[in-house]
Amino acid sequence: MKKLTVFAIFGCLIFMAANLQSCKNDADDDTVTPEEFIADDAAFVDFTSWALGATEEGPDPSADLGGFAHGADDSTVVRTIYFKDGQDPVDGVYPVGTLIGKHVMNPDGTVAAAFGMAKRGNGFNSAAGDWEWFKLMTDGTLIERGGNVAGFEGCNGCHAGAADKDYVFTQK
Ligand code: HEC
Repeated sequence: MKKLTVFAIFGCLIFMAANLQSCKNDADDDTVTPEEFIADDAAFVDFTSWALGATEEGPDPSADLGGFAHGADDSTVVRTIYFKDGQDPVDGVYPVGTLIGKHVMNPDGTVAAAFGMAKRGNGFNSAAGDWEWFKLMTDGTLIERGGNVAGFEGCNGCHAGAADKDYVFTQK
C-alpha cells in the first residue's frame, strides 16, 4: 500500500513536470505550426519564383503506371518542382503550411501543365499525409482543388508510391 502511494505521488510529479514543460515550449515558440492550413486560391500564383527543389528530365518515371502523370510520358519534357520558402521536411515530414508547386513543360512549349500540393493538416486527406491537391494554370492560378475525392484519386493513388517520403517523390 505504501509502495503504491509513493508510485502515485511520483507519477503525479512526472505528469506535472511534463505539463509545465509543454507550457513552457508553447510560450517560447513564436513560430508555432498551425493545426490546419487552408491555402487561399491564389497561393500558387508565380510559384516558379519559389526555391527550386528539383528538375526532372525525360520520360515520367511513372511510365509503368501508365505514364499519364502530369502529361509527361515524353523524352523531351522538363519537370521542375518548387518549394515555397525552400521548405524542408522535419524528420521526413513536411510541416503544416508547406506549399509545393510543379511545372511540366516541353522545350517547344507544346505540353504545359502545373500542379500543386499544400500540407493542410488536421486529418484532411489522411489517406495521403493530409495533403491537399491543386490543379493549376501554368501561372499558378487555380483550376481545381481537393483531397481524397473524385477527380483527385489519381493524385492519392500515385503519390502513395512516395508514402515513405511524406508523399513527396522529390523529397531530398
Ligand atoms: C501516375 C502517377 C502520378 C499521378 C497520377 C500524380 N502524380 Fe504528382 N508526381 C508523380 C511523380 C513520379 C512525381 C515526381 C516528379 C517527376 O518526376 O515528375 C510527382 C510530383 C508531384 C509534385 C511535386 C512534389 C513531388 O511529389 O515530388 C506535385 C506538387 C504533384 N506531383 C502533384 C500532383 C497532383 C495535384 C496530382 C493529381 C492531380 C498528381 N500529382 C498526380 C506522379 C504522379
